[in-house]
Amino acid sequence: MRREENKEMDDLYTAPSSEPERTTFFMEMARQLVEDLAGKKGSPLTCCVVTFGCQMNARDSEKIRGILTEIGFLDTKNEEADFVLYNTCTVRENANNKVYGRLGVLRGYQKKNPFMRIALCGCMMQEAHVVEKLQESYSFVNLIFGTHNLYRFPELFTKMLLSDRMVVEILPERERIVEDLPSKRTYPFKSGVNIMFGCNNFCSYCIVPYVRGREVSREPKEILREIETLAADGVKEVMLLGQNVNSYGKNLDRPVMFANLLREVAKVEGIARIRFMTSHPKDLSEDLMDVFAETEKLCPHLHLPLQSGSSRLLEKMNRHYDKAHYLSLVQKLRERKPDISLTTDIIVGFPGETEEDFLETLDVVEQVRYDSAFTFLYSKRNGTPAASFPDQIEEPVAKERFQRLLSAVQRIAAERAERFAGKTLPVLVEEQNQQDPSLVTGRLANNAVVHFPGDVSLIGQIVPVKLDECKGFYYVGSRTT
Ligand code: 5AD
Ligand code: SF4
Repeated sequence: MRREENKEMDDLYTAPSSEPERTTFFMEMARQLVEDLAGKKGSPLTCCVVTFGCQMNARDSEKIRGILTEIGFLDTKNEEADFVLYNTCTVRENANNKVYGRLGVLRGYQKKNPFMRIALCGCMMQEAHVVEKLQESYSFVNLIFGTHNLYRFPELFTKMLLSDRMVVEILPERERIVEDLPSKRTYPFKSGVNIMFGCNNFCSYCIVPYVRGREVSREPKEILREIETLAADGVKEVMLLGQNVNSYGKNLDRPVMFANLLREVAKVEGIARIRFMTSHPKDLSEDLMDVFAETEKLCPHLHLPLQSGSSRLLEKMNRHYDKAHYLSLVQKLRERKPDISLTTDIIVGFPGETEEDFLETLDVVEQVRYDSAFTFLYSKRNGTPAASFPDQIEEPVAKERFQRLLSAVQRIAAERAERFAGKTLPVLVEEQNQQDPSLVTGRLANNAVVHFPGDVSLIGQIVPVKLDECKGFYYVGSRTT
């Protein structure tokens, strides 16, 4: 190790022990190191953060990008950058395989670029066997951290730059919620906002509670402060994020109901649209349903994961509701908000699933008539109870059911979308259309995508658009004045 690196290693021991001073200290140290490296390279260093998985990961990636930008990186989408970070997902096996495959490609880039550092974080890293495999066979990875220590990224990043060994830090549980990390939003006009972390539900197929830890809610005043800052910064739409937002606030010292949090968020001036993700049917209260009817700002869209329509399987999945209860929730919601769009997650091929069970799922799909649905083939996750259930379903059987489900879901989604054709509805314009630059693309309050002629000056505005044509899962419209 070079002399000045030794000095910087010594500096590490003088870091303040309290937050936020410690993070500020490492931000400054990282900034200097990045500046030195850029000097050696002769150009600014570039970074590329790649997100796998859900909205939670997307939000974490924004925070990481915010830190990287503050310490002097140029943010790019090119994986041949000087710092590449994969924020991983492990909810299904194929997400893991994708990461291993792409690491091989990164290794090729790294051989050509002596400045390149590779980092991995997110849910997959919380699994001990993954980290072992990376340490054994992917020693070119420079930094690994998990889901509970994102706030320590500036420190871990600094240590990575000063070390020639792989830096690994995985914490078993979230120790604290650190507020006020910098963040670089993907869109200036909309933002995710974490309201809680972790999950206590232990659905028998799901690895999330093991990798994201127990439920912890943020204090409402911190959430509102963040949203007020976002609004002042021009944000019009917020998506409140949690694995199970319906149990938000139950474990706070002064418990707060999610419905009441929504009512408070709706009072923030400048915020025009509020969404949230994800709701567990077992905790969906009538009070929350009322907020849909009360509050115009709450978008008329609810993502309500079904997982299966078979009460027998729902029990084995440890979901704590049955088919009848789920259908009654849908009915109550529609009584309050007749036009609400419903979307869902469904798993096909859960261990022991019979044709009759599957037909129950199809029956719920036909009765509820979802606006869209994410359909998944069951993926066996080691360490979850369902992985050792008997009667794992053969792949061809599961795939055939999956196709049947998909065609029902798609047919119904296209039929549902027709109900807005010809109407004029507000669209939040998000971006220039990627295929045709004379068009812009935005979303209706129910989250459906609309393309219409317009220019980039409309981005971030909510404008009325006539939905001339429904193309199944999106609309082509024209601007009305
Ligand atoms: N196999 C398939 N799908 C899964 N999901 C969670 N765990 C699994 C698994 N082991 C799905 C659920 C959940 C969504 C985020 O991912 O439908 O709602
Ligand atoms: Fe997984 Fe169930 Fe928690 Fe959702 S509620 S993250 S499916 S354990």
